[in-house]
Amino acid sequence: MYNILTLNAISPKGLEKLPGEQFAVSADITKPDGIIVRSADMHDYSIPDTLLAIARAGAGTNNIPVDSCAEKGVVVFNTPGANANAVKELVIASLLISSRKITEAAEWTKTLKGQPDMDKLIEGGKKKYAGPEIIGKKLGVIGLGAIGVLVANAALALGMEVVGYDPFLSVHSAWHISGQVSLAKSVDEVVSVCDYITIHIPQNENTKKMIDAELLKKFKKGARLINLSRGGLIDPAAVADALDEGILNKFVTDFADNELLGKENVITLPHLGASTPESEENCAAMAAVELKNFIEYGNIKNSVNFPNCETPYTGKARVTVAHKNIPNMVGSITAIFAKENLNIDNMINKSKGNWAYTIIDLDTLGDKHDSLIKELKELKGVVKARIVREN
Ligand SMILES: NC(=O)c1ccc[n+]([C@@H]2O[C@H](COP(=O)([O-])OP(=O)(O)OC[C@H]3O[C@@H](n4cnc5c(N)ncnc54)[C@H](O)[C@@H]3O)[C@@H](O)[C@H]2O)c1
Repeated sequence: MYNILTLNAISPKGLEKLPGEQFAVSADITKPDGIIVRSADMHDYSIPDTLLAIARAGAGTNNIPVDSCAEKGVVVFNTPGANANAVKELVIASLLISSRKITEAAEWTKTLKGQPDMDKLIEGGKKKYAGPEIIGKKLGVIGLGAIGVLVANAALALGMEVVGYDPFLSVHSAWHISGQVSLAKSVDEVVSVCDYITIHIPQNENTKKMIDAELLKKFKKGARLINLSRGGLIDPAAVADALDEGILNKFVTDFADNELLGKENVITLPHLGASTPESEENCAAMAAVELKNFIEYGNIKNSVNFPNCETPYTGKARVTVAHKNIPNMVGSITAIFAKENLNIDNMINKSKGNWAYTIIDLDTLGDKHDSLIKELKELKGVVKARIVREN
């Protein structure tokens, strides 16, 4: 029986992936094998020796001390893409509200409450809120990852032309994106031809303030810009100028900024991208499956501190070792198995940054349980060694 500690209320759809016969799941567990967390701050949490892994139901892991977890061999998982559909749907809504003045019109209509000639006022005033359809217009999608691909394909289905840009396009995205999306070679190429531009890239040193005054000068006049990715991807002052100069017709963002909040033609949402019950369920289910697969089989998928490392279980015995990514680790590890006269059936070793992980399937462990794990743990660079299963 494995103990799973929940540090936030986790969707039952997620917890049902951890069957009661094998997993005791509760918010009161003191010696957890695994933790599922949403936003609880874990920086002051003292990591128990029993802990094997933490699964974050969501994308960001800044509430988890990822590096000190790695030092103790605790694998931290997140759930990339689990909220992609929620964000995609909000992008579709953003395309429409950037075009049809829907939010402004609804606000104006409220002001007519109680007016005796309401119908006449509506017929007279609604002209101000007319806006173009999106069908046949060109959408630029910057970043073709989990969200960008869904947005591109959905926009095609709505009759838009789509131009995508992603210099690091993954094989997964290449498989899933429609062949009707034309791929641009640069951001400049996208912004110069598109009527609508939506950004779906991570915020990092290379992308910070990517939408700046220089790039905005290259936009097609009157374009509509959507940023549901991260606030820091745009330069707010440059966007404000572009709106004043008519370069941008509208800016829809999921990130409040004092410079732009309340400005005409800016629609600011309160970080609503992933706020759907389905997204919460998808994240919880994905986190639970990642945790289960790791605890039961030692396989790693979607870790932020250790490499992806998965192999089908041969069905006899499995040992895993989390270790530093330094020379001669694999040689030293396998030498211990040789010394113990244990035959390796199958083995996989992967690395990511400073850390690496090795899965070793054996014919049999015999009576070597204690001596093997003791020797592996004594090896310089090893932070965790575990007999994952036998038979
Ligand atoms: N508003 C919200 O609530 C919300 C919710 C989820 C995600 N997000 C944001 O959306 C972003 C995208 O999420 P995702 O799940 O699609 O991530 P992802 O990792 O699947 O995709 C990101 C893509 O951006 C590409 N990329 C990186 N740098 C680029 C660059 N300079 N130019 C063009 N492409 C570049 C990558 O190659 C990758 O394909 C996240 O980074 C996150 O900040 C926001």
